Amino acid sequence: MQSAGIEALRGEPITIVEVGPRDGLQNEPAQVATADKVAFINLLSAAKVPVIEVSAFVSPKWVPQMADAAEVFQRIARRSDIRYTALVPNSRGLERALAVGVREIAVFAAASESFSRRNINQSIDESLATYRDVCAQATAAGVRVRGYLSTAFGCPYEGAVSIEAVVRRVEQLLDLGVFEVAVSDTIGIAHPGAVTATLDAILARVPATHVALHFHDTRGTALANVLAGLLSGIRTFDASAGGLGGCPYAPGAAGNLATDDLVFMLDGLGMRSGVDAHALDAATTFIGSRLDHALPSRVVQARRASRSA
Ligand code: HMG
Ligand code: MG
Repeated sequence: MQSAGIEALRGEPITIVEVGPRDGLQNEPAQVATADKVAFINLLSAAKVPVIEVSAFVSPKWVPQMADAAEVFQRIARRSDIRYTALVPNSRGLERALAVGVREIAVFAAASESFSRRNINQSIDESLATYRDVCAQATAAGVRVRGYLSTAFGCPYEGAVSIEAVVRRVEQLLDLGVFEVAVSDTIGIAHPGAVTATLDAILARVPATHVALHFHDTRGTALANVLAGLLSGIRTFDASAGGLGGCPYAPGAAGNLATDDLVFMLDGLGMRSGVDAHALDAATTFIGSRLDHALPSRVVQARRASRSA
């Protein structure tokens, strides 16, 4: 049954959401120069990653690494076949995004109260009330809104999170008018069994086209989780070039699933992501050269090793 399931994936289209410039760089202790962020995003565009999360219009006091969101948006070369998006926590963030012509944003809620409080200084219900206004204002301006649900598989402060809570929050986000919810494993604690169980519960209530998956690779399960998601019918996955990333309000969270590793697996499965793996390598190599540590992507490490052999 599994092998028939895997064979059926061949030829299927997949959407990769590249979150490296936001989720990746927000967690780098060193500030990456604005010009380097712009060059990185332009290289990701050249690799034809269909969606790029460019930055976050959040409080610069909370996340100084994203303080240059407006300037980055103004300086990147936007291609018409690529969607460029950004996190927005409130109306102030939306105003800043609209001022630089952003056409798609993402709001970000959590499934656990403690994480919500630490990340955005609001309870979950307060954040949903804030996002109701943001979604209404964005829709009136013709801007599409994505939703994130953090801590969907576990919380760094509370531990286990119930599947019922996850399903309820996914539905509440969709009720606000978001076009999809990225069900997020903030601390990289999910495994394929948890992914399948959570998706079974969500997909009993919500179409798969409204659900994306966002994995951090803290425990090395992210690619296995993607496969579980694929077999459950999910076709949109977040990833970051080289495996950059983490979350400043999730202690110990490692980088996102590496886009390079995801593309390698999807290409192997014969799925159609549209991403040019060679050009992606150039983007990853570039941003890696601007950081003082190696990037965790296994595919990138394997390529380097075979080049130097
Ligand atoms: P607050 O301190 O409760 O609210 O922050 P505030 O209204 O008192 O604002 C504080 C200051 O920030 C004020 O400035 C505001 O004007 C300013 P002051 O008056 O002190 O000079 N401010 C802003 N400035 C620019 N743009 C704005 C903005 N809003 C307020 N939009 C707030 C509340 C939500 C703003 C804050 O907590 C915040 O920005 N949090 C964002 C934290 C964040 O970015 N976390 C990482 C992203 S989430 C993530 O990584 C998870 C994800 O990857 C999925 C997963 O893996 O789970 C998506
Ligand atoms: Mg994340």
